[in-house]
Amino acid sequence: MEEIKRVGVVGGGQMGSGIAQIAATCGFDVILLDSDSSALQRGLHNIQSSINRFVSKGQLSQAMADDAIMRLKCSTDLRDLHSADIIIEAIVESEGSKKELFSQLDRIVKDSAILASNTSSISITRLATTTRRPRQVIGMHFMNPPPIMKLVEIVRGADTSDEVFAIVKTLAKRLGKTIICSLDFPGFIVNRILMPMINEAFFALYTGVATKEDIDTGMKLGTNHPMGPLELADFIGLDVCLSIMKVLHSGLGDSKYLPCPLLVQYVDAGRLGKKCGVGVYSYG
Ligand code: CAA
Repeated sequence: MEEIKRVGVVGGGQMGSGIAQIAATCGFDVILLDSDSSALQRGLHNIQSSINRFVSKGQLSQAMADDAIMRLKCSTDLRDLHSADIIIEAIVESEGSKKELFSQLDRIVKDSAILASNTSSISITRLATTTRRPRQVIGMHFMNPPPIMKLVEIVRGADTSDEVFAIVKTLAKRLGKTIICSLDFPGFIVNRILMPMINEAFFALYTGVATKEDIDTGMKLGTNHPMGPLELADFIGLDVCLSIMKVLHSGLGDSKYLPCPLLVQYVDAGRLGKKCGVGVYSYG
Protein backbone atom coordinates (compact mmCIF):
# COMPACT_ATOMS: atom_id res chain seq x y z
CA MET A 1 0.00 0.00 0.00
CA GLU A 2 1.28 3.48 -0.90
CA GLU A 3 2.60 6.10 1.49
CA ILE A 4 0.04 8.82 2.16
CA LYS A 5 0.70 12.02 0.21
CA ARG A 6 -2.74 13.22 -0.78
CA VAL A 7 -5.55 13.53 1.76
CA GLY A 8 -9.21 13.98 0.84
CA VAL A 9 -11.60 15.39 3.43
CA VAL A 10 -15.36 15.25 2.91
CA GLY A 11 -17.43 17.79 4.85
CA GLY A 12 -16.59 21.50 5.10
CA GLY A 13 -17.96 22.00 8.63
CA GLN A 14 -15.97 22.71 11.77
CA MET A 15 -14.45 19.20 11.97
CA GLY A 16 -13.79 18.70 8.25
CA SER A 17 -12.26 22.13 7.73
CA GLY A 18 -10.15 21.70 10.87
CA ILE A 19 -8.85 18.30 9.68
CA ALA A 20 -8.09 19.71 6.20
CA GLN A 21 -6.24 22.60 7.83
CA ILE A 22 -3.97 20.39 9.92
CA ALA A 23 -3.22 18.10 6.96
CA ALA A 24 -2.31 21.09 4.75
CA THR A 25 -0.12 22.74 7.41
CA CYS A 26 1.65 19.39 7.97
CA GLY A 27 2.68 19.22 4.31
CA PHE A 28 0.03 17.01 2.68
CA ASP A 29 -1.81 17.86 -0.53
CA VAL A 30 -5.42 18.24 0.54
CA ILE A 31 -8.73 18.22 -1.28
CA LEU A 32 -11.60 19.53 0.84
CA LEU A 33 -14.95 18.52 -0.51
CA ASP A 34 -18.51 19.54 0.27
CA SER A 35 -21.53 19.25 -2.01
CA ASP A 36 -22.64 22.70 -0.76
CA SER A 37 -20.36 25.44 -2.13
CA SER A 38 -21.37 27.97 0.54
CA ALA A 39 -20.38 25.44 3.26
CA LEU A 40 -17.01 25.14 1.49
CA GLN A 41 -16.61 28.93 1.54
CA ARG A 42 -17.40 29.02 5.28
CA GLY A 43 -14.93 26.17 5.83
CA LEU A 44 -12.20 28.03 3.96
CA HIS A 45 -12.90 31.16 5.97
CA ASN A 46 -12.55 29.14 9.23
CA ILE A 47 -9.26 27.69 8.00
CA GLN A 48 -7.88 31.08 7.05
CA SER A 49 -8.81 32.67 10.37
CA SER A 50 -7.48 29.73 12.40
CA ILE A 51 -4.19 29.78 10.45
CA ASN A 52 -3.96 33.55 11.03
CA ARG A 53 -4.25 32.95 14.78
CA PHE A 54 -1.27 30.57 14.67
CA VAL A 55 0.74 33.05 12.56
CA SER A 56 -0.03 36.00 14.84
CA LYS A 57 1.17 33.97 17.86
CA GLY A 58 4.40 33.04 16.04
CA GLN A 59 3.50 29.31 16.02
CA LEU A 60 3.47 29.17 12.20
CA SER A 61 5.54 31.27 9.79
CA GLN A 62 3.77 33.30 7.11
CA ALA A 63 5.59 31.24 4.44
CA MET A 64 4.33 27.95 5.93
CA ALA A 65 0.82 29.38 6.15
CA ASP A 66 0.94 30.46 2.49
CA ASP A 67 2.24 27.00 1.50
CA ALA A 68 -0.59 25.34 3.41
CA ILE A 69 -3.21 27.43 1.64
CA MET A 70 -1.58 26.60 -1.72
CA ARG A 71 -1.72 22.87 -0.95
CA LEU A 72 -5.42 23.04 -0.16
CA LYS A 73 -7.86 22.57 -3.02
CA CYS A 74 -11.65 22.69 -2.72
CA SER A 75 -14.25 20.85 -4.73
CA THR A 76 -17.95 20.04 -4.80
CA ASP A 77 -17.43 16.96 -7.00
CA LEU A 78 -16.69 13.62 -5.31
CA ARG A 79 -14.88 12.42 -8.44
CA ASP A 80 -12.03 14.84 -7.62
CA LEU A 81 -11.08 12.44 -4.82
CA HIS A 82 -10.00 9.73 -7.27
CA SER A 83 -6.29 10.38 -6.63
CA ALA A 84 -6.45 10.66 -2.82
CA ASP A 85 -4.55 8.06 -0.76
CA ILE A 86 -6.93 8.45 2.18
CA ILE A 87 -10.35 10.04 2.45
CA ILE A 88 -11.47 11.21 5.88
CA GLU A 89 -15.19 11.83 6.06
CA ALA A 90 -16.57 14.39 8.49
CA ILE A 91 -20.13 14.82 7.24
CA VAL A 92 -23.34 14.88 9.27
CA GLU A 93 -23.49 12.27 12.06
CA SER A 94 -26.06 10.06 10.34
CA GLU A 95 -25.44 6.39 9.68
CA GLY A 96 -27.51 6.44 6.47
CA SER A 97 -25.64 9.44 5.03
CA LYS A 98 -22.22 8.01 5.93
CA LYS A 99 -23.08 4.60 4.45
CA GLU A 100 -24.27 6.24 1.24
CA LEU A 101 -21.08 8.30 1.04
CA PHE A 102 -18.81 5.29 1.70
CA SER A 103 -20.51 3.22 -0.95
CA GLN A 104 -20.11 6.09 -3.48
CA LEU A 105 -16.47 6.67 -2.50
CA ASP A 106 -15.75 2.96 -2.83
CA ARG A 107 -16.69 3.18 -6.52
CA ILE A 108 -14.73 6.41 -7.19
CA VAL A 109 -11.44 6.24 -5.29
CA LYS A 110 -8.43 4.14 -6.25
CA ASP A 111 -8.26 0.54 -5.05
CA SER A 112 -5.47 1.20 -2.56
CA ALA A 113 -7.22 4.20 -0.92
CA ILE A 114 -8.16 4.08 2.75
CA LEU A 115 -11.64 5.22 3.81
CA ALA A 116 -11.61 6.81 7.27
CA SER A 117 -14.52 8.17 9.26
CA ASN A 118 -14.40 10.92 11.87
CA THR A 119 -17.59 9.54 13.40
CA SER A 120 -17.97 10.06 17.14
CA SER A 121 -20.11 6.96 17.66
CA ILE A 122 -21.28 5.16 14.53
CA SER A 123 -19.96 1.62 14.05
CA ILE A 124 -16.95 1.46 11.70
CA THR A 125 -17.73 -2.22 11.09
CA ARG A 126 -21.21 -1.34 9.78
CA LEU A 127 -19.87 1.51 7.59
CA ALA A 128 -17.31 -0.91 6.15
CA THR A 129 -20.03 -3.32 5.00
CA THR A 130 -21.15 -0.80 2.37
CA THR A 131 -17.76 -1.06 0.62
CA ARG A 132 -15.77 -3.78 -1.16
CA ARG A 133 -12.74 -2.88 0.97
CA PRO A 134 -13.65 -3.48 4.66
CA ARG A 135 -9.96 -4.10 5.45
CA GLN A 136 -9.27 -0.48 4.37
CA VAL A 137 -12.00 1.16 6.48
CA ILE A 138 -11.07 2.71 9.82
CA GLY A 139 -12.16 5.37 12.34
CA MET A 140 -10.07 8.51 12.77
CA HIS A 141 -11.85 10.47 15.46
CA PHE A 142 -10.50 14.00 15.89
CA MET A 143 -11.55 16.19 18.81
CA ASN A 144 -13.09 19.64 18.45
CA PRO A 145 -11.38 22.01 17.61
CA PRO A 146 -9.06 19.77 15.55
CA PRO A 147 -6.22 22.33 15.14
CA ILE A 148 -5.93 22.67 18.94
CA MET A 149 -6.84 19.31 20.42
CA LYS A 150 -3.90 16.91 20.57
CA LEU A 151 -5.76 13.60 20.33
CA VAL A 152 -6.85 11.27 17.55
CA GLU A 153 -8.82 8.21 18.58
CA ILE A 154 -8.21 5.46 16.03
CA VAL A 155 -11.01 2.93 15.79
CA ARG A 156 -10.42 -0.49 14.29
CA GLY A 157 -13.45 -2.08 12.66
CA ALA A 158 -13.89 -5.85 12.84
CA ASP A 159 -12.02 -6.25 9.53
CA THR A 160 -9.53 -3.34 9.54
CA SER A 161 -6.15 -4.73 8.51
CA ASP A 162 -2.96 -4.35 10.56
CA GLU A 163 -1.35 -2.59 7.59
CA VAL A 164 -4.08 0.05 7.37
CA PHE A 165 -4.00 0.54 11.13
CA ALA A 166 -0.21 1.10 10.96
CA ILE A 167 -0.52 3.59 8.06
CA VAL A 168 -3.21 5.59 9.84
CA LYS A 169 -1.21 5.62 13.09
CA THR A 170 1.76 7.06 11.18
CA LEU A 171 -0.47 9.63 9.48
CA ALA A 172 -1.96 10.79 12.81
CA LYS A 173 1.53 11.17 14.26
CA ARG A 174 2.63 13.18 11.21
CA LEU A 175 -0.38 15.42 11.90
CA GLY A 176 1.18 16.10 15.30
CA LYS A 177 -1.40 14.11 17.25
CA THR A 178 -1.14 11.65 20.10
CA ILE A 179 -3.12 8.54 19.29
CA ILE A 180 -5.22 6.17 21.30
CA CYS A 181 -6.66 2.98 19.86
CA SER A 182 -10.16 1.67 20.44
CA LEU A 183 -12.01 -1.40 19.29
CA ASP A 184 -15.32 -0.74 17.56
CA PHE A 185 -17.79 -0.68 20.46
CA PRO A 186 -20.36 2.04 21.28
CA GLY A 187 -18.82 5.43 22.10
CA PHE A 188 -15.27 4.10 21.59
CA ILE A 189 -13.12 5.43 24.48
CA VAL A 190 -13.63 9.18 24.77
CA ASN A 191 -17.38 9.44 24.31
CA ARG A 192 -18.03 6.28 26.34
CA ILE A 193 -16.68 8.23 29.32
CA LEU A 194 -17.37 11.88 28.40
CA MET A 195 -21.04 11.61 27.42
CA PRO A 196 -22.26 9.91 30.63
CA MET A 197 -20.53 12.74 32.53
CA ILE A 198 -22.31 15.38 30.43
CA ASN A 199 -25.61 13.47 30.80
CA GLU A 200 -25.11 13.35 34.58
CA ALA A 201 -24.55 17.13 34.60
CA PHE A 202 -27.94 17.48 32.88
CA PHE A 203 -29.51 15.22 35.54
CA ALA A 204 -27.96 17.42 38.26
CA LEU A 205 -29.53 20.48 36.60
CA TYR A 206 -32.85 18.69 35.90
CA THR A 207 -33.28 17.52 39.48
CA GLY A 208 -32.38 20.94 40.90
CA VAL A 209 -29.17 19.91 42.63
CA ALA A 210 -27.45 23.13 41.53
CA THR A 211 -27.46 25.96 39.02
CA LYS A 212 -25.84 25.49 35.62
CA GLU A 213 -23.12 27.95 36.62
CA ASP A 214 -22.28 26.04 39.80
CA ILE A 215 -22.24 22.68 38.00
CA ASP A 216 -19.81 24.06 35.42
CA THR A 217 -17.65 25.95 37.94
CA GLY A 218 -17.51 22.81 40.08
CA MET A 219 -16.03 20.76 37.28
CA LYS A 220 -13.81 23.55 35.93
CA LEU A 221 -12.20 24.54 39.20
CA GLY A 222 -12.76 21.29 41.08
CA THR A 223 -11.31 18.97 38.45
CA ASN A 224 -9.36 21.35 36.18
CA HIS A 225 -11.47 20.82 33.05
CA PRO A 226 -11.11 23.70 30.55
CA MET A 227 -14.90 23.89 30.20
CA GLY A 228 -17.69 22.75 32.52
CA PRO A 229 -19.81 19.83 31.22
CA LEU A 230 -22.83 21.96 30.30
CA GLU A 231 -20.70 24.56 28.52
CA LEU A 232 -18.90 21.71 26.74
CA ALA A 233 -22.25 20.18 25.73
CA ASP A 234 -23.21 23.52 24.12
CA PHE A 235 -19.82 23.57 22.36
CA ILE A 236 -20.21 20.01 21.01
CA GLY A 237 -23.92 20.46 20.16
CA LEU A 238 -26.76 19.10 22.31
CA ASP A 239 -28.11 17.11 19.35
CA VAL A 240 -24.73 15.38 18.98
CA CYS A 241 -24.60 14.62 22.74
CA LEU A 242 -28.13 13.19 22.63
CA SER A 243 -27.42 11.02 19.62
CA ILE A 244 -24.28 9.59 21.26
CA MET A 245 -26.22 8.84 24.48
CA LYS A 246 -28.79 6.99 22.35
CA VAL A 247 -26.00 4.94 20.72
CA LEU A 248 -24.59 4.06 24.17
CA HIS A 249 -28.06 3.19 25.50
CA SER A 250 -29.10 1.02 22.58
CA GLY A 251 -25.66 -0.49 21.99
CA LEU A 252 -24.81 -1.35 25.60
CA GLY A 253 -28.37 -1.91 26.84
CA ASP A 254 -27.87 -0.43 30.30
CA SER A 255 -30.35 2.06 31.81
CA LYS A 256 -27.44 4.08 33.17
CA TYR A 257 -27.06 5.47 29.64
CA LEU A 258 -30.68 6.72 29.40
CA PRO A 259 -30.55 10.29 28.05
CA CYS A 260 -31.63 12.89 30.63
CA PRO A 261 -35.17 14.17 29.85
CA LEU A 262 -33.89 17.76 30.07
CA LEU A 263 -31.29 17.09 27.34
CA VAL A 264 -34.05 15.54 25.20
CA GLN A 265 -36.32 18.54 25.81
CA TYR A 266 -33.63 21.08 24.86
CA VAL A 267 -33.02 19.25 21.60
CA ASP A 268 -36.78 19.03 20.93
CA ALA A 269 -36.97 22.80 21.46
CA GLY A 270 -34.16 23.40 18.95
CA ARG A 271 -31.78 24.59 21.69
CA LEU A 272 -28.82 22.83 20.13
CA GLY A 273 -26.00 24.84 21.73
CA LYS A 274 -23.49 27.40 20.60
CA LYS A 275 -23.94 26.73 16.87
CA CYS A 276 -27.53 28.02 16.99
CA GLY A 277 -27.05 30.76 19.59
CA VAL A 278 -28.85 29.00 22.45
CA GLY A 279 -28.44 25.78 24.38
CA VAL A 280 -27.98 25.53 28.13
CA TYR A 281 -26.61 29.08 27.83
CA SER A 282 -27.43 31.90 25.41
CA TYR A 283 -24.74 33.25 23.09
CA GLY A 284 -24.27 36.69 21.50
N1 CAA B 1 -7.73 27.63 15.66
C1 CAA B 1 -6.62 28.23 16.17
N2 CAA B 1 -6.50 28.59 17.45
C2 CAA B 1 -7.56 28.36 18.26
C3 CAA B 1 -8.76 27.73 17.80
C4 CAA B 1 -8.81 27.37 16.44
N3 CAA B 1 -9.88 26.74 15.90
N4 CAA B 1 -9.63 27.62 18.84
C5 CAA B 1 -9.00 28.14 19.92
N5 CAA B 1 -7.76 28.59 19.56
C6 CAA B 1 -6.74 29.15 20.42
C7 CAA B 1 -6.97 30.60 20.77
O1 CAA B 1 -6.38 31.46 19.83
C8 CAA B 1 -6.30 30.72 22.14
O2 CAA B 1 -4.92 30.88 22.01
P1 CAA B 1 -4.05 31.67 23.13
O3 CAA B 1 -4.35 31.04 24.44
O4 CAA B 1 -2.65 31.46 22.70
O5 CAA B 1 -4.52 33.08 23.03
C9 CAA B 1 -6.52 29.36 22.75
O6 CAA B 1 -6.78 28.45 21.68
C10 CAA B 1 -7.67 29.36 23.69
O7 CAA B 1 -8.82 29.84 23.00
P2 CAA B 1 -9.83 30.92 23.54
O8 CAA B 1 -9.11 31.95 24.37
O9 CAA B 1 -10.68 31.38 22.41
O10 CAA B 1 -10.84 30.14 24.47
P3 CAA B 1 -10.54 29.10 25.56
O11 CAA B 1 -9.39 29.47 26.43
O12 CAA B 1 -11.87 28.83 26.19
O13 CAA B 1 -10.14 27.78 24.76
C11 CAA B 1 -10.79 25.74 23.86
C12 CAA B 1 -10.96 27.23 23.80
C13 CAA B 1 -9.43 25.36 23.28
C14 CAA B 1 -11.88 25.16 22.95
C15 CAA B 1 -10.87 25.25 25.34
O14 CAA B 1 -12.00 25.81 25.96
C16 CAA B 1 -10.99 23.76 25.46
O15 CAA B 1 -10.01 23.03 25.38
N6 CAA B 1 -12.25 23.27 25.69
C17 CAA B 1 -12.52 21.85 25.76
C18 CAA B 1 -12.61 21.31 24.37
C19 CAA B 1 -12.92 19.84 24.35
O16 CAA B 1 -13.06 19.17 25.35
N7 CAA B 1 -13.03 19.32 23.12
C20 CAA B 1 -13.38 17.94 22.92
C21 CAA B 1 -14.84 17.84 22.80
S1 CAA B 1 -15.33 16.16 22.63
C22 CAA B 1 -15.11 15.86 21.02
O17 CAA B 1 -14.75 16.67 20.22
C23 CAA B 1 -15.44 14.48 20.63
C24 CAA B 1 -16.81 14.22 20.24
O18 CAA B 1 -16.99 13.28 19.50
C25 CAA B 1 -17.98 14.95 20.74
